[in-house]
Amino acid sequence: MTAPDIKTPLPGPRARAIIDRDARFVSPSYTRDYPFVIARGEGAIVEDVDGNRFLDCAAGIAVNSTGVSHPDVVRAITEQAQKFIHMSGTDFYYEPQVRLAEELASIAPIAGDVRTFFANSGTETTEASIKLSRYFTKRQGIIAFFGGFHGRSLGALSLTASKSIQRRGFGPMMPGVYHAPYPDPYRFDGSADACAAAALSFIKEQLLVHLVSPDEIAAIVVEPIQGEGGYVVPPAAFLQGLRELTAEHGMLLVVDEVQSGMGRTGKMFASDHFGLKADVVNIAKGIASGLPLGVTCARADVMTWPPGAHASTFGGNPVSCAAANATIRLLKDGLVANAATVGTHMLDGLRALQAKHQLIGDVRGKGLMIGVELVKDRQTKERATAERNALVQAMFRRGVLILGAGKNAVRLAPPLVLTIEQANQVLRVFDEAMGEIGG
Ligand SMILES: Cc1ncc(COP(=O)(O)O)c(C=O)c1O
Repeated sequence: MTAPDIKTPLPGPRARAIIDRDARFVSPSYTRDYPFVIARGEGAIVEDVDGNRFLDCAAGIAVNSTGVSHPDVVRAITEQAQKFIHMSGTDFYYEPQVRLAEELASIAPIAGDVRTFFANSGTETTEASIKLSRYFTKRQGIIAFFGGFHGRSLGALSLTASKSIQRRGFGPMMPGVYHAPYPDPYRFDGSADACAAAALSFIKEQLLVHLVSPDEIAAIVVEPIQGEGGYVVPPAAFLQGLRELTAEHGMLLVVDEVQSGMGRTGKMFASDHFGLKADVVNIAKGIASGLPLGVTCARADVMTWPPGAHASTFGGNPVSCAAANATIRLLKDGLVANAATVGTHMLDGLRALQAKHQLIGDVRGKGLMIGVELVKDRQTKERATAERNALVQAMFRRGVLILGAGKNAVRLAPPLVLTIEQANQVLRVFDEAMGEIGG
């Protein structure tokens, strides 16, 4: 398959017909930015129902880590499905789940022995980590961050502080949740260390002094690179500071690697870039190449809740576990390294385009977790939200799928199989699209 290859007006007639049916029968709460209706895919290329081919830099919201239907993953899924599709790890045992827990114990960014709880989604891992933190510490409070996204069920939503539409009309939220600013080096006037110090000082000197006592906080929940919030890479000193703060006060450090984990950043976990070891780590999205799976990994001496305390009928489904075991093998056998190599190439290419297009205020990221922030003016950094939205559309019309992140950034989160040649195509299209939107 080659891409981009756009043959019809978008949407084409077949896509239009499906979208019209969707509009009548599917929940209107979904946010579809453009009319892409997939028929099939291969690697980092997806084809729509009218035969148009796109380079995929969205990966089903950073999920299709090994590309669309990688043959090894399909084989693992098929073999497992032929044996048994479900048994429930809540009440019974099966080897693929144990194998995955063993594997996670060796790769999770947690020091010492590790145990894993199995769920179906990122949101459910947030719920598990909230409950585990409360249970273990016998405290109720949680500190999370503005711009953070941790899911949409009511516990997780109480931590999420991304867009107000996600919370509007659903309150009251879970009590005992406090939000602090997330350090954004691009928007901070000063050094990375000063940026980290300011964010930490808000927690230590404001939040924990005026609002809540440290001994009432069960956990600090943080994304090591903020995802939905704009692919914001914090200073390393910030995450290390959270590690020290939580250890000092007997709080747990819960790291949400749902979007940043499983090789996307060019290391297995974003935490690995910062030398960060958490008490609890949440993982989902890319872990099973698209099958639903979420895991909450924790220090073995923290995950001590008794039988019956927490479980899920479908969590850790055998087919999802088989897909995850195959995914981890592929990641270790080359895809994490590929994410690092192709990611660096993309970042370099985008920084070169920054010299040409005034609208590009910041290019940031690690591996294939890349954010590009658009601003109307590089001095004032006024957010170019309309231009960002126009860029997403212009990329789509030219055959590259991307998504927005935060108020005025786009994210490039392709499958980790993306080649250098495909990255060059993306850069070429990005250049053209920026030209079209007047950047
Ligand atoms: C960092 C992070 N945590 C949690 C979630 C929620 O995951 P899910 O949509 O699988 O429930 C997301 C989803 O985008 C995420 O990016």
